[in-house]
Amino acid sequence: MTARILALDHTGVLGGAELSMLDVVAGLGEDVRVRLFADGPFREALSARGADVRVLPMGALANVKKGSRVPSPRALAAAWRLAGEVAREAHSARVLYANSEKAFIVAALAAGRCHLPVVWHLRDLLGPPHFSALNTRGAVMLANWRASRVIANSRATADAFVAAGGDGGRVRVVHNGIAAASFDDVPAGAARALRAELSPNAAYVMAIFGRLHAWKGQQIAIDALAQLPADCHLWVVGAPLFGEDEFAAGLQSQAMRRGVSDRVKFLGFRHDIAPLMHACDVVVHASTLPEPFGRVLVEGMLAGRPVIAAAAGGVGEIITNGTTGVLVPPGDAAALARAVARLRAEPVRAAALASAGAVHARAAFSLEAMVRGVRAVLDEVAG
Ligand code: UDP
Ligand code: GLC
Repeated sequence: MTARILALDHTGVLGGAELSMLDVVAGLGEDVRVRLFADGPFREALSARGADVRVLPMGALANVKKGSRVPSPRALAAAWRLAGEVAREAHSARVLYANSEKAFIVAALAAGRCHLPVVWHLRDLLGPPHFSALNTRGAVMLANWRASRVIANSRATADAFVAAGGDGGRVRVVHNGIAAASFDDVPAGAARALRAELSPNAAYVMAIFGRLHAWKGQQIAIDALAQLPADCHLWVVGAPLFGEDEFAAGLQSQAMRRGVSDRVKFLGFRHDIAPLMHACDVVVHASTLPEPFGRVLVEGMLAGRPVIAAAAGGVGEIITNGTTGVLVPPGDAAALARAVARLRAEPVRAAALASAGAVHARAAFSLEAMVRGVRAVLDEVAG
């Protein structure tokens, strides 16, 4: 079969957008080829799943960041060159499927040269504070010109696109879906062993999962820990994926300053998220800016943990406060600490929230529904 879909992503690292695309690509099977603009573990993971994947290096386009002002002539030249390569790669395809903003910009430039429709899977909240006004304006103009469809990972993401001037008629909301099986198949012994290895002396463990970045709020979790009793520990799971090494080092000094460094474990990037979630007592999410979706929330629910999350962006589409989890104001360490303390003190309530969350996550965020949703949009456009 000739692949109808040419899927594009700018990065080689494993962020949530890439982990989600990995599942989409696996679901689309031989109908898709993948071209990345950088090499890394994402390419390896795609290859391991049998995908047709190659890297087209992006050169100076790598220097353009979300908050960037006008891109340099070198970056523009790199984007144009890359668009030419994508157009050549697209010979037998019927649609370009872009999984990131940078991939979309290149796809939009390529579209004019290979006469193919473009679908942008938008996974970010466009506009300040995440993106500069200039970046947003450029991306939205390009989308209104060249994107046949925009798939938004949440209603919040769709609304931000429309608020920035994007054409709402082209938007389809497809929530992330996560394979429940990997969260079901964790042997109790494995979780117990992890807990004993990582925090043998902790009576209670809260854990935060995600790349290390100021807006992901690991600093809020550390501040909250400092307000909790000494037998409560914190696991910080994730690495700086996009060069935030200074922020990561700052977290260690913060833990030191707050006198909690013996109660915080920095675990770096892990591939055993399901066992780690099973091994902790509560999954916390503490993004200080609105979260576009937040896969970690669904994962925590699938693992049968109570989840506490910062209420902004797509989070309210995943968790109903007091029913399937607990919502706290973003950036409020004291509120987070209070929510953790209350769950610890009320185990029956915590278990009820966790089991309602697990049921809801299975029903509302299945992998199958996500793949079906993305495929329907691509089919509609590719004909
Ligand atoms: N994750 C992981 N290893 C880590 C930390 C995080 O595999 O050490 C995964 C996590 O399980 C989730 C994804 O990274 O699937 C993060 O996605 P999310 O949507 O929460 O945030 P993003 O980073 O995409 O903004
Ligand atoms: C982005 C967003 C995150 C979302 C993920 C998958 O990385 O930051 O909130 O869950 O994409 O769509």
